[in-house]
Amino acid sequence: MAEFHKLTVKNIEKTTKDCVLVSFDIPSGSEEVFKYKQGQYLTLKATIDGNSVQRSYSLCSSPIDNELRVGIKAVPMGLFSTFANEQLKEGDTLESLPPSGNFFVEVNPEIQKNYACFAAGSGITPMYSIIKTHLAAEPNSTFKLFYINQTVSSIILKDELEALKNQYMERFEIFHFLTKQNRTVELFNGRLDQEKLDIIFKTISNVSRVDDYFICGPEAMIFLVRDFLLEQKVDKEKIHFELFGTSADKPKLNKEDAEKLSGKTCRVTLIEGGKSMEFELAMGGDNILDAALNNSADLPYACKGGVCCTCRAKLVEGEVTMGVTYGLEQDELDNNYILTCQALPTTEKVVVDFDK
Ligand SMILES: Cc1cc2nc3c(=O)[nH]c(=O)nc-3n(C[C@H](O)[C@H](O)[C@H](O)COP(=O)(O)OP(=O)(O)OC[C@H]3O[C@@H](n4cnc5c(N)ncnc54)[C@H](O)[C@@H]3O)c2cc1C
Ligand code: FES
Repeated sequence: MAEFHKLTVKNIEKTTKDCVLVSFDIPSGSEEVFKYKQGQYLTLKATIDGNSVQRSYSLCSSPIDNELRVGIKAVPMGLFSTFANEQLKEGDTLESLPPSGNFFVEVNPEIQKNYACFAAGSGITPMYSIIKTHLAAEPNSTFKLFYINQTVSSIILKDELEALKNQYMERFEIFHFLTKQNRTVELFNGRLDQEKLDIIFKTISNVSRVDDYFICGPEAMIFLVRDFLLEQKVDKEKIHFELFGTSADKPKLNKEDAEKLSGKTCRVTLIEGGKSMEFELAMGGDNILDAALNNSADLPYACKGGVCCTCRAKLVEGEVTMGVTYGLEQDELDNNYILTCQALPTTEKVVVDFDK
């Protein structure tokens, strides 16, 4: 199982009134641990009002700069994001899991690709890392970025994006959409919708010329763009998206399993850090992660919503049913990897290994 490592805050900078860019010193001796790919994220842990809180934040720096930086946008009443925006300061220490995530394609200096990116609000963080890295490492590749914000002053990483555009004028274009401020061209006013996507792909970006699409923002926007592209017969392998959260309900057993398993319990064995623990879990009740945490297991997690993959483990015995599994790739599902925050046992014994 991946372990937490201490990270010291090197610098904090306000990029908009409600978003901070937090960079970290890479601890000497941990350079390998914190090597990352563009588009990956850190899972940070802090003690806030006496409680341990873990959340994921995409790296908005590029691996080529040897820098470790995240952008944290305050959400109303949000525990970690408010703490980061209002209390965190230079010299403070947080804990972090090694970088992880699958929101990237490999960089290939020999290749010439056209990329299209759709970002909204804080969804720009992994995108900036991706754009900066590919532009630097693939001298013939191009990027078009469609970026949605409320107003000019809420644009995260605005100056950095402008600098990148000036550096790569021939290969990088940005199209800003504003939802609470008027732009002269009607297309760029308001949220994305089907009609706007139609115009974008007819006039600005020909679907057939794009090799990879990256999408990050609110769930509704991600699925709007993804579904539009699928309708245009874009190969699903070319569509990459990162969810920061989901509105999906907690996982539930289907009606048939719920009836069949009602009143039964499952003996859960967890293997973690070379040790194992066991507990009984009422079928149709808690998911495996919550049940394990209630039984004092010290396990990694962040979103508890099936999107970040921090709670991934291998199911080595028994069967489970899962809610959403956005965080897992198809080959992981095929190889019996599960998201424990989404997994409900459907057999009377399951063995789950966090070390594999
Ligand atoms: C892979 C990944 C990458 C991410 N990258 C970024 C990034 O780069 N930048 C970024 O800013 N965020 C990012 N996120 C989102 C981030 O992890 C957090 O989810 C976000 O910062 C909110 O966390 P929080 O602790 O501040 O809010 P939470 O305390 O978790 O609350 C979230 C929201 O839920 C509401 N809420 C909480 N509890 C309740 C309740 N009991 N009843 C009703 N409403 C409630 C709050 O009001 C708030 O609006 C990423 C997420 C993932 C999964
Ligand atoms: S904790 Fe994020 S997928 Fe389970």
